[in-house]
Amino acid sequence: MEMKKILAAGIVFCMGIQLFCACGKEEPYEEDKVYVGVTYYEQSDTFLSQMISCLKDEFQNYEEKGYETAMLIRGAGGSQRTQNDQARELIDAGCNVLCVNLVDRADPSEIIDLARENNVPIIFFNREPVAEDMMQWDKLYYVGALAAQSGILQGEMAIELIQSDSGIDRNKDGKIQYVVLEGEAGHQDAIIRTENVVDTLKSNGIAIEKLSYGIANWNRAQAQNQMLQMISQHQNKIELVLANNDDMALGALDAYEKLNYTESALPAFLGIDGTDVGLEAVRDQRLAGTVYNDKEGQAAAMAKLAIALVTGQGMGEIEFQNERYIYLPYFKVTKEMAERFLERKSWR
Ligand code: GAL
Ligand code: CA
Repeated sequence: MEMKKILAAGIVFCMGIQLFCACGKEEPYEEDKVYVGVTYYEQSDTFLSQMISCLKDEFQNYEEKGYETAMLIRGAGGSQRTQNDQARELIDAGCNVLCVNLVDRADPSEIIDLARENNVPIIFFNREPVAEDMMQWDKLYYVGALAAQSGILQGEMAIELIQSDSGIDRNKDGKIQYVVLEGEAGHQDAIIRTENVVDTLKSNGIAIEKLSYGIANWNRAQAQNQMLQMISQHQNKIELVLANNDDMALGALDAYEKLNYTESALPAFLGIDGTDVGLEAVRDQRLAGTVYNDKEGQAAAMAKLAIALVTGQGMGEIEFQNERYIYLPYFKVTKEMAERFLERKSWR
């Protein structure tokens, strides 16, 4: 048993060496070896950090099934220029497929040109390039989820909450006073989630009144600051906080905790993602609910596609939408379900 482990560690080590030494541009690719280069927009992003670790697990699984894989991962620190350099570095290191989470989803041209020149397919993920850019080359793919669905599900959770708990309408005026915490301006998951959650509430006849909104770039600390400002403006009028992700919902809660609000004086908070911290907060009823952004499903789809693109095997089994898109569904997570999601038990 021990011997097997040492042997396995040795093989992994040698593969790593090969990747860096034997895969210079002048060397022909050995197409059965899958060398994945990953670059993502920002290392501090909670959801993406968890998603990248799912991706590592997926390739590890393929490794155990006998595939030869290696992975290089880079975080771009929020700079598109850095990310362009990373894409070049990954291709120079011998990667034969790239997984790219763009910093600027409207600016993929340099990376696409580079990949095309070297015939390295790209799987974009989570930050969806605009459709015209996806047409630049036929080896461009996208794996993600449909933002509209997450907004609709968040809206449905809000409706269930409002209808089951008359205490949400704190001032009993028959309307729900709400604020929105939004992700990055220009990100498909920010604009579309907000539009859809609000439309779902309205089209189901829920009377709502928007008090304010703040852009907090998916970030917990920024959300706390935005929320402190909104509280100072509206005091205890806020009844519902709709956040485009869990980190911002938690940041809003942090603001109330900082101001020493008692539990009974808090509004309801809804997030999206189902990160571990988000799920724990739903389980503990600190958040009223979240919408699961299926990082395991997305990572599995990316790994399967990467293997198929490099080896040429299994492409026929993959179901695409619009030929080169894969969208995984979202799921509602209430407190009853949170533990199940935390334990990664099957929920599909
Ligand atoms: C969203 C996710 C956010 C953030 C963002 C980054 O899908 O809900 O938490 O990770 O992607 O692009
Ligand atoms: Ca009210």
